[in-house]
Amino acid sequence: VSIVQSVRWGDRGVVIIDQRLLPEKCVERELTTLDEVCDAIRTLAVRGAPAIGIAGAMGLVVSTRPRKGDSREGYIEALRANAETIRATRPTAVNLPWALARMVRVGEAQAGDSEVIHKRLFDEASAILAEDRAMCRSIGEHGVALITPNARIITHCNTGALATGGIGTALAPIYLAAERGLAPQVFADETRPLMQGSRLTAWELSQANIAVSILPDSAAASLMREKKIDLVIVGADRIAANGDVANKIGTYSLAIAAKHHGVPFYVAAPSSTIDPETASGADIHIEQRGADEVRRTGGTITAPTDVDVYNPAFDVTPASLITAIITDRGVHKPPFHFPA
Ligand code: MRU
Repeated sequence: VSIVQSVRWGDRGVVIIDQRLLPEKCVERELTTLDEVCDAIRTLAVRGAPAIGIAGAMGLVVSTRPRKGDSREGYIEALRANAETIRATRPTAVNLPWALARMVRVGEAQAGDSEVIHKRLFDEASAILAEDRAMCRSIGEHGVALITPNARIITHCNTGALATGGIGTALAPIYLAAERGLAPQVFADETRPLMQGSRLTAWELSQANIAVSILPDSAAASLMREKKIDLVIVGADRIAANGDVANKIGTYSLAIAAKHHGVPFYVAAPSSTIDPETASGADIHIEQRGADEVRRTGGTITAPTDVDVYNPAFDVTPASLITAIITDRGVHKPPFHFPA
């Protein structure tokens, strides 16, 4: 599978594909300061749970580079402060705090001066990227076993190469199914309000020559009623210990529709998305985003400019609606239990 690289090292910083400009333009942007890293994550220039974890870790290295002549204590202090600033950009995907906490732990444990610690952290962020790539592959290998020839698959949001360091989470089994001649047919929810399905998933699957149609989110249930869908696969931003899953807003309605119509509902995610510290979905902090994301569509005013808006970026799908959770470790069936 040949795919785009959403996050990589550049000469001066972290290079990302600016996902705000897709599908019109595929343009890279280099992030060289703490502010640029935070802004890119907050505005979804880089997005998707695994990708923000990777960009956060690599961005932390870039942000502490000016401190590498400092005393060991000064450097560690900056490391902790910058990690906290990056963590605060988006609250729901656990991959971001997971990657940052790992970086801070490794930095604190490394003996030597700030130069040595800095070099160690560069290697650790590179390892986080490489591990994510490998986890995507394993998710694909486990998940492809669930895909029958010519399967008609609904997905939501973007969970592919753009959202990860590799071939994706929910899209990984689809990439491998295509590679193995199973000819999957993908139905991508548009994913209002920010259109990750129509802008990003449709773009990346088309690039890979995989059959994809887009539909308004509100059309998914009808498509299932017409018996035109064999399975649903979505990603996750945080999986609680009991198997409740936070993912892009609209995932919960898709799960309810799938349950009603007897369509299998799969969640695919790397181990870094499992949060054993969170007991259930009720404990997950759901990000609320700005009103103008809903009042305006593609820059055009599509609502009274002062109307109240409800704009949660994510919702929680209870474990009871999930057929199986596919991770890099295998296919987990209910009852789910992800202990620390
Ligand atoms: O707001 P986004 O675009 O970062 O939301 C992304 C999602 O909800 C994805 O489905 C999730 O991160 C899994 S992607 C590998």
